Amino acid sequence: MVTPPLPPLYRDADFNGPLSDAHAARLIHSLGPLAGKRIVDIGCGWAELLLRALASEPTATGFGIDLGEEAVGHGRANARERGLADRVQLVVGDVGSWPGTHADVVVNNGAAHVWGGEPETHTANALEAVSDLLGPGGRFLFGECFWLREPTGEESETMRDIPRAQYRSLPDLVDFALSHGFRLRALSQADLWEWDDFENRHTQGLEEWLLANPGSPDTDEVRARADRYREFRVRGTRETIGFAYLSLIRV
Ligand SMILES: C[S@@+](CC[C@H](N)C(=O)[O-])C[C@H]1O[C@@H](n2cnc3c(N)ncnc32)[C@H](O)[C@@H]1O
Repeated sequence: MVTPPLPPLYRDADFNGPLSDAHAARLIHSLGPLAGKRIVDIGCGWAELLLRALASEPTATGFGIDLGEEAVGHGRANARERGLADRVQLVVGDVGSWPGTHADVVVNNGAAHVWGGEPETHTANALEAVSDLLGPGGRFLFGECFWLREPTGEESETMRDIPRAQYRSLPDLVDFALSHGFRLRALSQADLWEWDDFENRHTQGLEEWLLANPGSPDTDEVRARADRYREFRVRGTRETIGFAYLSLIRV
């Protein structure tokens, strides 16, 4: 915690990931008719995609779970403001100790890590856990990173916190999902503009804080954080890591 506090990411970003409004609408459409369906968002953050899915279909209901109290609180406030509160339950909780719940549609977007384990196991953990939650014909929107290309030595060094085996190429990610009992209904990926827009929103709060608080005892820490984030993006992930949206049907 720094003083004064940094603004929350949801002040600047609609989604906690690289996703435009139009792309979000297409993803929701790809989940098929949602009438009467129960949509479960695992690692929902402030649950923007879930809330938009519910707004698109007045008979659908939703459930979301996330560790972040503040994010979940923001999601609940948005649900109230949009008249969705009676159709959605957003809970603060650790997915690692969550027993699961009935679902017709599951969303797990940028949150394969919520089941815990080593990074190399996150994608498998997500596919296995969601496969267990869904019956035949159930839908799964899986938002997951993949390698756009092999990173150079310098890029690998900059991204040393990401094990090479944590992600796959896009074809291998698709095959891996299908091997867990799914068919692919639709596939898309974040474009560079969606990525840049998201990353710019991510750093906006840090840069504004630095401008407004030159005398804070936490200035060095916040500047170092912003610098690390920029290096990670510009010299690491920007040309190497993609983000795929797999709209899957449980066989
Ligand atoms: C990159 S964000 C994605 C959020 C959301 N799915 C979205 O697209 O906006 C990852 C989320 O996973 C949540 N998270 C991480 N570990 C978790 C856990 N063990 N249980 C529940 N949520 C967790 C974080 O709090 C964060 O909100």
